[in-house]
Amino acid sequence: MTQKLWGGRFTQPTDKFVEEFTASIGFELRLGYYDIHGSKAHAEMLGRQGIIAVAEAEQIIAGLDEIAKDIEAGDLEFSVALEDIHMNIEARLIELIGAVGGKLHTGRSRNDQVAVDVRLYLRDEIDVILDYLTKLESSLIEQAETNLDVIMPGYTHLQTAQPVLYSHHMLAYREMIARDCSRLRDLRARFNQMPLGAGALAGTTFPIDREWVAEKLGFDGVTRNSLDSVSDRDFAIEFCSFAAILMMHLSRLAEELILWSSADFSFIELSDAFCTGSSIMPQKKNPDVPELVRGKTGRVYGNLISLLTLMKSLPLAYNKDMQEDKEPLFDTIDTVKGSLKVFADMIAEMKVKGDNMRIAASRGFSTATDVADYCVRKGLPFRQAHEVVGQTVRYCLETGKDIPELNLAEFKEFSALIEADIYDFVTLEASVNSRKATGGTAREAVERELSRLKSS
Ligand code: ARG
Repeated sequence: MTQKLWGGRFTQPTDKFVEEFTASIGFELRLGYYDIHGSKAHAEMLGRQGIIAVAEAEQIIAGLDEIAKDIEAGDLEFSVALEDIHMNIEARLIELIGAVGGKLHTGRSRNDQVAVDVRLYLRDEIDVILDYLTKLESSLIEQAETNLDVIMPGYTHLQTAQPVLYSHHMLAYREMIARDCSRLRDLRARFNQMPLGAGALAGTTFPIDREWVAEKLGFDGVTRNSLDSVSDRDFAIEFCSFAAILMMHLSRLAEELILWSSADFSFIELSDAFCTGSSIMPQKKNPDVPELVRGKTGRVYGNLISLLTLMKSLPLAYNKDMQEDKEPLFDTIDTVKGSLKVFADMIAEMKVKGDNMRIAASRGFSTATDVADYCVRKGLPFRQAHEVVGQTVRYCLETGKDIPELNLAEFKEFSALIEADIYDFVTLEASVNSRKATGGTAREAVERELSRLKSS
């Protein structure tokens, strides 16, 4: 029987299957580095405070450094009997430096230990994700900058509505990603408080210096209530809700890229590097990457719901249920990182078929609103203008003509207010470029936006 670190009060060994069933070591190896990092700060503080001898603290720290090296080299054998990453590392420390290793856990519990480990880990991952988000933002901005001439149909209900710049469409996604970044920074700042010192739940009897440990580990401060410190997982839930919103955004872009790369739209071409072929249909080039990102959105939503459900109604403070927080959180981090990375690269290499977009934009009476606005400027109330243009569109449908193809006499059939200058208003360029106010699709408004983004 492996000697359990908590074995004192037990007379019988743990059931073998229960050992496996309760262990978290199988899925939390990624916490190893952070567990050691947190333990080193804790040991140093114990020495500084005279809770253990400074020489003992030094021995512990040296032992932990050695374990870190072993873990990195893949030389540490983890044991299910030792349940989790914390006890595997502590047992190895005692094996390595002897009984003094047993002093590390003074004034600490696995409950505050796991709380600090996950925070340290998540903080690092968030910094990587912020970097990936910035790269995706740059890819979108670059698409916008290099395709400023491209006009595409803007849709509502997936029906042609009004022409827009393709750049404007790309910058819409940049807005979403920028808000995702801001959400992520907010939640990072909120949870960057150090929980060590909460002990099992009530605090510790030892004269620890929590503020010193907090500073050493790069936290902005210390948590204020020991019960909450060991039982709070809302930082993980907030992260997963950030991730769910981000994936919702990516899935919308994914859906558009999938539609746009179909033969029927043919608006873009994804690089071969991001597509696969069909085993039976030789002509196929499938947009697997956006499809997978769209699909992976489901598991990220699921992870958020798992965590919310896991935490629902749990009494204070720590409960073993909470060990189930790891896999959904880790899976969310991995999924988000993968999706962002592949999207940033794919979008950077995406080719735009501007001519096809333009042809599509000139179909579907996309400048009908411009004719209505024209009539309004000539004095017609908007409701009447709407009716006039509705009848014009019906005439076009019956005669197979497009609005800019009508001659002036035909226009005048619908409203005497329409003059020869109508033709200045019904081209795609005129329609787009008349929407000049901040946030509009006019080329000058989009260019202003691009230079604002570059200077910020
Ligand atoms: N593996 C545990 C978890 O992830 C660590 C905390 C264990 N605490 C305890 N009292 N059993 O939640």
